[in-house]
Amino acid sequence: MTGLAFSQSSNIMQRVEGEEMFVSDNLSVNEKNHLMIGQNDTVELAREFGTPLYVMDEDLIRKNCRIYKQAIDRYYDGKGLVLYANKAFCSLFTCRIAKEEGLGIDVVSGGELYTAIKADFPMEKVCFHGNNKTLDELELAIRYNVGHIVVDNVYELELLNEVAAKHDKKMKIMFRIKPGVEAHTHSFIKTGQIDSKFGVALENGEAFEIIKRAMSMSNVEVSGLHCHIGSQIFDIEPFCAAAEIMMNFIGDLKDKLELEINELNLGGGYGIMYTEKDDPIEYDKYIEHVSKVVKSVAQKREVKLPFIFMEPGRSIVASAGITLYTVGGVKDIKNVRKYISVDGGMTDNPRYVMYQSEYTAVIANNANAKPCEKVTIAGKCCESGDVLLKDVMMPEIKVGDVLAVLATGAYNYSMSSNYNRIARPAVVAVSQGAAKVVIKRETYEDLIRNDL
Ligand code: LLP
Repeated sequence: MTGLAFSQSSNIMQRVEGEEMFVSDNLSVNEKNHLMIGQNDTVELAREFGTPLYVMDEDLIRKNCRIYKQAIDRYYDGKGLVLYANKAFCSLFTCRIAKEEGLGIDVVSGGELYTAIKADFPMEKVCFHGNNKTLDELELAIRYNVGHIVVDNVYELELLNEVAAKHDKKMKIMFRIKPGVEAHTHSFIKTGQIDSKFGVALENGEAFEIIKRAMSMSNVEVSGLHCHIGSQIFDIEPFCAAAEIMMNFIGDLKDKLELEINELNLGGGYGIMYTEKDDPIEYDKYIEHVSKVVKSVAQKREVKLPFIFMEPGRSIVASAGITLYTVGGVKDIKNVRKYISVDGGMTDNPRYVMYQSEYTAVIANNANAKPCEKVTIAGKCCESGDVLLKDVMMPEIKVGDVLAVLATGAYNYSMSSNYNRIARPAVVAVSQGAAKVVIKRETYEDLIRNDL
């Protein structure tokens, strides 16, 4: 095996000495020149389970969960809880891992909550988000005693109080606050600024007013504040700025309303490496820095240190996942572009279409081959924009090759669709050399299941 071991799981890809290739720290190349994930040969996985195929390295997911957990222990005396943000990859499989690793989860819909219920997830460790929770979703959350509901707006607050009263319950709530922090990321995944559909703003007094309103209600208990400034963020500063603003707001609530806020949820958003251009920070560094800010403002404003929640999604699962495709048609349009078509596309990974996200790809059956030409990897949908990687340098790709797209563990399966009635791929989890299907491949029959 070529030695491609890396020290940091946050540094998921790194230039391999002398090679023009980038890999995750859980990836290597065996003597057959095949890409390995964990101890599994990806070419064999493709042969055994078919393509397209999502492959998730369970050991790396668990390792990432532990990095966050240990960081809270080390830098915040264990007075916090890591909530895995399910939207990155929601399934019984991921819920069970989060549960076994002692994490909580963030859910954002009735469907995600239902998945957690079915995974026997401890409901007190569930935090329910969303900017427009429906009556049914609130009913479900109340019936199952979800630990925290993150209230987004006044309408929702009134509805929740009413439904909770009907069930004779008092629900613990947090408020989604827009701290007014601009994060440098794609505009679609930026959420902390005032012009956002999520939460209530600080600068126009909206946040203050809604909390005052909640304090007068009998079936909700204001326990915390929440913010999430965006996703795929590499700088520490916006997280520290958000933490400072939130802590000062906790100070203001104490001074002006005599309200003690005991919990602070700082959201997720930590960036990961998709290509060599990305330069992520070690995950525990975020917690180290943010903890310092929280402690120092708490002291300055003379408020109690809040119990903190973090909600990493992408950084727990992205680098643990790869997608395997089989190469079909190769179309070389002289002086224009060379298209390589694969048997999946925007239906299993819509991120290029939505955000022009960049990825790294490797020919799984010829993993150490040197890049020699510029190609565009296209999907099979009836849509010109259906591209996975545009104008990337790759080694020569042949029909029948197995192509691996790296770092697809987050927001791929969870954002997949059946456009063109393309069935969703299976998800296979690998751990210590063993592989098992954790989500079955959809069949044509599945596609017409709800048709009447
Ligand atoms: N907490 C809240 C309230 C969130 O809205 C999100 C992500 C997270 C935590 C987790 O953020 P992460 O650690 O995964 O960055 N579909 C987009 C990402 C949308 C993120 C939505 N919220 C993408 O594919 O990049």
